[in-house]
Amino acid sequence: MTQNLENALAYSERWLGIIKQNEVSEVLGKEIITESKQNFAEHFNKGWLEYRKSVTEAGDWAAVEWTGSGAVFKDVLGREYLDCLGGYGMLNHGWSHPDVVAAVRAQLGRTPMPSQELIDPLRGVLARMMADITPGDLKYSWFAASGTEAIEASIKIAKLYTQKPAFIVAVKAFHGKTMGSLSMLGKADYRQPMGMLYGGPVYHVPFGDAEAVERQLEICDTIGVGVAGVLLEPIQGEAGAIVPPDTFWPRVREATQKYGALLIADEVQTGLGRTGKLWGVEHWNVVPDIIAVAKSLGGGVMPISAVTTTEEIFQPMMYPNPFMHTTTTGGGALACSAAIASINVTLRDRLWEQAAEKGEYFISKLREFAEEYPQVYNKVTGKGLLIGMHFQTPQIGYKVAAELFKRGVLVAGTLTNAQTIRIEPPLIIECAQIDEVLNRLDDTLAEVSKTL
Ligand SMILES: Cc1ncc(COP(=O)(O)O)c(C=O)c1O
Repeated sequence: MTQNLENALAYSERWLGIIKQNEVSEVLGKEIITESKQNFAEHFNKGWLEYRKSVTEAGDWAAVEWTGSGAVFKDVLGREYLDCLGGYGMLNHGWSHPDVVAAVRAQLGRTPMPSQELIDPLRGVLARMMADITPGDLKYSWFAASGTEAIEASIKIAKLYTQKPAFIVAVKAFHGKTMGSLSMLGKADYRQPMGMLYGGPVYHVPFGDAEAVERQLEICDTIGVGVAGVLLEPIQGEAGAIVPPDTFWPRVREATQKYGALLIADEVQTGLGRTGKLWGVEHWNVVPDIIAVAKSLGGGVMPISAVTTTEEIFQPMMYPNPFMHTTTTGGGALACSAAIASINVTLRDRLWEQAAEKGEYFISKLREFAEEYPQVYNKVTGKGLLIGMHFQTPQIGYKVAAELFKRGVLVAGTLTNAQTIRIEPPLIIECAQIDEVLNRLDDTLAEVSKTL
């Protein structure tokens, strides 16, 4: 073995030893912090480390996460934080939900991955459950690991079924960063540096503007460009919890039907209760042709995503070639066990109702702050526990996030800057914890407003 291979072997042994420890001493904790920062700077992403200064340099020692339960997580030195980010929508169930962990542990003891050749039960169970919990006659599912893969699959299914090339998407939309979903992204900062992406036409229209969607469909029809799908988030997440007017989704549904385009709901972030309904589209009683979901489908324990559609639309994924779109690890047994438990907990504990009630309270309190501090806030938007605090400037947003973190509350800006901060806690956050976040925010706002 070369020296490098010897080094990697020894290093993995050191870390396998640490991974198996639940508690770490303060000395080891400090070693882990130093080592983690060094590894990130030298081998993972130096820019990432610098960009996250508010988190990595808060206090004497950078916060390196270690463990968590419910809406609280601890860093490697045992300091506690209230999680108001929820892994960008991945932690609806909170950190390490015991029922999800138990299901995954049991499956792990038996077999984590399928042979790929035989029939494995959990994939079928999850597909059947997806048919039950999605609206209308959505019936067949395809599984992968990430949200972006679910969007890629949705794009392919829409193209295969309609045999048309174009897509209509929204400005400021976020659908993931692989080549197809990136083409549908509404933020030029991420799309343009990659140059030419999806080969067919993609039209960006303002989110929430039904007339713009109708007009684009009409123009495409007139000039003979077939539209395969209109792809939208029910409520825009990454854009800052932007809620469209109530007429938007019903009008888009009608227009897509008129022009024979599929309506694709990207529920990667809004799905499974986040906005106060099981699915975001249910706020407007709309049944889309395709639903894509990810993030909290894995219960915050395993990565898994799904695309669910009708039997008719799924036909070209089954015949003549059932292997038209596949991925080796997607929908493995371990991931499916997590998703089955995640859906079970969501339904059993009616997590969407919790999101609706807690969100209404949270939003009303934040709006009171916005009125009290007009020099700090622009507005507060959102539904359920997908909330956006929009500040007067990115600098103010950054200060609020950094000061909140110093007070033990995790929030984050959008991918472009901190002018908008998302509040997206686990849906199981306790009411007393929301009040504690509000107390710390009150304190933060008083301090930040003094500096303006
Ligand atoms: C609405 C939406 N779609 C798709 C994605 C991409 O998901 P992933 O990061 O798992 O690829 C995201 C991620 O934030 C998202 O918010």
